[in-house]
Amino acid sequence: THRIPLLSLSNAMNNEELKLFNTQMKKSLDKKIEYVGEPKLDGLAVELIYENGKFVKGSTRGDGQIGEDITENLKTIKAIPLYLNEDYTIPAILEVRGEVFINHTDFKSLNKKRMKNGESLFANPRNCAAGSLRQLDSSVTATRPLRIYCYAPGYIEGLNFNSQIDFLKALPKWGFPVNQEIQLGVGIAFLNKYYKYIESIRNNLTYDIDGVVFKVNSYKDQELLGTRSRSPRWAIAAKLKAVQA
Ligand code: IVH
Repeated sequence: THRIPLLSLSNAMNNEELKLFNTQMKKSLDKKIEYVGEPKLDGLAVELIYENGKFVKGSTRGDGQIGEDITENLKTIKAIPLYLNEDYTIPAILEVRGEVFINHTDFKSLNKKRMKNGESLFANPRNCAAGSLRQLDSSVTATRPLRIYCYAPGYIEGLNFNSQIDFLKALPKWGFPVNQEIQLGVGIAFLNKYYKYIESIRNNLTYDIDGVVFKVNSYKDQELLGTRSRSPRWAIAAKLKAVQA
């Protein structure tokens, strides 16, 4: 059971809806808003739990309240630290959320190998990542080229963060990979600029994304805005056009 539910994101289907999101934020907070823009990775959300710096449990998102225990499979992912680096304060409890994915070249060579061996092929990197995480035998998971980018805190005991950008800056110090394309900016001008930027580099990325996520940077403001039943009011996913097969 997740100590804090893993919510999903509400969608902005077009520019008007993105504008409306910013208007609502401005109305609720009565100021210009600082946002963090992040690529929306098309993989699988996982939660990693550390107790006194040691990785003790990992799970899938599940229904957002209860996930599946995939600790042993996650331990085979090289990019997930089994112990936190001590370059940053180690809290008693640290929950980190992120997206597990497979990049394009790794996916192609894995399917090529499967073809040679007469095994069934994966339809896309996301299915491949999902199948790999759900293995009952973690030695199979260990042969899959899984990667992770971390992007959100869960429950934390013994340390406080003021903002999303501060949390994202702490992650690499502990040893977690964070997406290089994340940016901080202010107001609707930033939302539009960042969306266009991600749209323009999408084809050069080595992994699949299906949108852009915008989060209100200040955690105090996030708390003020609160959540709906299944999604926070302080974040939105701006959809990118689906890629044609
Ligand atoms: S934040 C409450 N950040 O999108 C915030 N999610 O629809 C929710 N996702 O289940 C998570 N990239 O699997 C966040 N940079 C990112 C993300 C991201 C992909 C996925 C995640 C989540 C879904 C929400």
